[in-house]
Amino acid sequence: MALNGEPPPWDEFDSSAYLKDNYVVLRDDDRQIVELVRDFFVGATFDVPLKGVDVGSGTNIYPALAMLPWCDHLDLCEYSAQNVEWLKNEIRAYSDSWDPFWDVLSEKPAYQAIDNPREALLKRAQVSKESIYELPADTWDIGTMFFVAESISDQAAEFELAVRKFVAALRPGAPFAAAFMENSTGYDVGALRFPAVSIGLSDVRDLLAPCTTDLAVDSIGPGSDPLREGYTGMILARGRAAAE
Ligand SMILES: C[S@@+](CC[C@H](N)C(=O)[O-])C[C@H]1O[C@@H](n2cnc3c(N)ncnc32)[C@H](O)[C@@H]1O
Repeated sequence: MALNGEPPPWDEFDSSAYLKDNYVVLRDDDRQIVELVRDFFVGATFDVPLKGVDVGSGTNIYPALAMLPWCDHLDLCEYSAQNVEWLKNEIRAYSDSWDPFWDVLSEKPAYQAIDNPREALLKRAQVSKESIYELPADTWDIGTMFFVAESISDQAAEFELAVRKFVAALRPGAPFAAAFMENSTGYDVGALRFPAVSIGLSDVRDLLAPCTTDLAVDSIGPGSDPLREGYTGMILARGRAAAE
């Protein structure tokens, strides 16, 4: 977790600034990702109810919302004390700015079946302070990890370990969606700089192929509206955890 040899200041992560920079408006690239993840989970067959996990949730609840129809329990595992507090507060009654994300999900009947997504998230989600590197193996039936493995370190070996730990935390056959920033040089949150490992689509595919099945990996371009400088797009992987 090094940044020039120092661990990044996760407990000082400015949750409000990150939320404002990334999620108060539904961006076109996030809409594409929500649609692809929604359609993947709708098409994946499994026995319900499931125990789900979102790893490194930060101030993003759309991965959790995407798993909601199938989960009677959802763990939101986050390492930063600030983001843990933000998540605990947000799930009490999530803000209206997430409604456009839910509207995209609700284009499919599985999501329409949830009358009150705010109440469902509050009942089913549990926030905990946990590191991706310490996740128990073979534990969850469905999982998401968005912009975490490549965005918590500048060390390629730590990116690779994080991806392997995420997949290992899933039971064999568990469907997952994982998103990555492409060629990221790091990012500012408020006044602080956070690290990244610069990765591309083939890095994600090569890493996931040996430990997954049914793998699909896509690039999502920033179009005419990049989020910030210092990245070239987003990468979305979907698949199932393979048996060890
Ligand atoms: C770039 S943010 C992504 C947040 C969110 N998932 C999203 O989609 O925007 C990276 C997140 O990983 C969290 N994080 C940092 N180190 C972690 C670790 N060891 N285990 C789990 N999460 C970690 C950070 O606190 C932060 O919330």
